[in-house]
Amino acid sequence: MAPPTYRRNGYKLPATPDGSLKGKVALITGASSGIGKVTALELASHGVHVILACRSATKTQPVLDEIAKKAPSDAPKAECWEVELASIDSVNQLADRFIASGLPLHLLINNAGFAGAAEITSAVRTRMET
Ligand SMILES: NC(=O)c1ccc[n+]([C@@H]2O[C@H](COP(=O)([O-])OP(=O)(O)OC[C@H]3O[C@@H](n4cnc5c(N)ncnc54)[C@H](OP(=O)(O)O)[C@@H]3O)[C@@H](O)[C@H]2O)c1
Repeated sequence: MAPPTYRRNGYKLPATPDGSLKGKVALITGASSGIGKVTALELASHGVHVILACRSATKTQPVLDEIAKKAPSDAPKAECWEVELASIDSVNQLADRFIASGLPLHLLINNAGFAGAAEITSAVRTRMET
């Protein structure tokens, strides 16, 4: 029987021959809290090597601790790589670090950001009204 695949918006992530995601590598931005954190926890529980690309290693440490508690004992790595996405230099450093690591990139989850800030919302509304 063919191994299952994991679908999201039509994209298929091929599973390993045993049907798991073990050994896949995911880089998730903004995984220190919220949706990014939950995504990192979930992927790690499926044996994915998760790289949490976050602003603060200190703030992200509790997430790594939680992953260590919940992930299978033979789970691959979970690590925090610091990045400030508002800085192109920082983004380039992250990209260089990833390339230098030699790791494959199976999942890039561009999650970091914020929604609903009043000034942004009103700026967008003003633009839509004009
Ligand atoms: N929650 C919702 O209902 C909802 C709805 C629609 C869309 N979204 C989108 O989903 C994403 C996650 O939402 P959330 O509710 O999980 O938000 P959240 O809990 O506020 O988490 C946002 C994450 O993004 C990080 N981040 C923000 N600016 C960053 C920067 N310049 N560089 C690096 N990291 C940065 C934050 O890091 P720090 O911890 O360092 O601040 C945090 O880890 C956002 O893009 C949001 O716009 C959310």
